[in-house]
Amino acid sequence: MSIRIILAGATGWAGSALALAIAKSNDITLVSAVSRTHAQHILGDVLNEPLLNCPVYASAQEALAHPCEVFFDFTKPDVAKSNVLAALHQGVHVVIGTSGLTDADYAEIATVAEHCRLGVLAVGNFALTVVLLQKFSEIAARYIPQWEIVDYAHDDKKDAPSGTARELAYRLSNIRPSEPTIQLAQTHGVVETRGTRVTGSQIHSIRLPGYTISVEIIFGMPDQKLIIRHDSGSSAQPYVDGALLAIRKVNTFVGLRRGLDNVLDL
Ligand SMILES: NC(=O)c1ccc[n+]([C@@H]2O[C@H](COP(=O)([O-])OP(=O)(O)OC[C@H]3O[C@@H](n4cnc5c(N)ncnc54)[C@H](OP(=O)(O)O)[C@@H]3O)[C@@H](O)[C@H]2O)c1
Repeated sequence: MSIRIILAGATGWAGSALALAIAKSNDITLVSAVSRTHAQHILGDVLNEPLLNCPVYASAQEALAHPCEVFFDFTKPDVAKSNVLAALHQGVHVVIGTSGLTDADYAEIATVAEHCRLGVLAVGNFALTVVLLQKFSEIAARYIPQWEIVDYAHDDKKDAPSGTARELAYRLSNIRPSEPTIQLAQTHGVVETRGTRVTGSQIHSIRLPGYTISVEIIFGMPDQKLIIRHDSGSSAQPYVDGALLAIRKVNTFVGLRRGLDNVLDL
């Protein structure tokens, strides 16, 4: 049986690539979509794909009137949490691709997901090379107690740190916090130049033209260091395969899971 999904952000850069891939899949069906600009239209007319014969609504609440198994969010952090909670209260599993939600947001979402006995899979970055970076970093953090994360993105990305960097910091916090030799409070000069501490990791966010999305983690030990880095290209293609996998797997567990490796056999 086909998995029926609602895609919020279906007309955006990432969401439209996912919608077009769903049109070609034979086990996932889009039943409705969310975009304020294209509300009252058929998604296929907006994306020039006749197979996407579903209506677009201005809000997730309206789109959720269509029965479905999975709600997928590729919107903006200011609206994503309320979308996710609305979907859970409607009895629908959720995949979160939107970045910028905080750990406090995730704690609230986790509580509601458990209460509703539904799965939520939040993935800061669906690209396979990011999933591998996360895994390799977790191994390194077991042996190397000090690291810092550098998050690079295009100049018009509003949220900082990126979802990729946040998720990496969150995952490493389950291993241990990074232990700086000099505590931040003891910094002489301008403490902000040391970046910001997020769930036990120091993160530096760079926003400049010329970047797409990159993340780098630097592990340092006396006289040696290890640098692991992911660079994305300009298309949304690396995210599409991971997003399809997330849609297919989100009904296999209850509660919140963060990271695509939760549903991969790594
Ligand atoms: N996890 C990953 O691997 C991954 C990959 C790429 C991007 N992302 C994240 O995904 C999110 C979307 O990125 P993008 O580059 O696709 O952005 P985008 O091109 O700006 O698209 C945003 C989409 O969300 C809709 N939207 C925004 N605000 C809305 C609101 N208040 N109500 C309803 N719809 C709304 C927009 O339509 P309207 O403006 O017409 O409403 C549009 O369809 C960002 O948080 C980005 O960081 C994550």
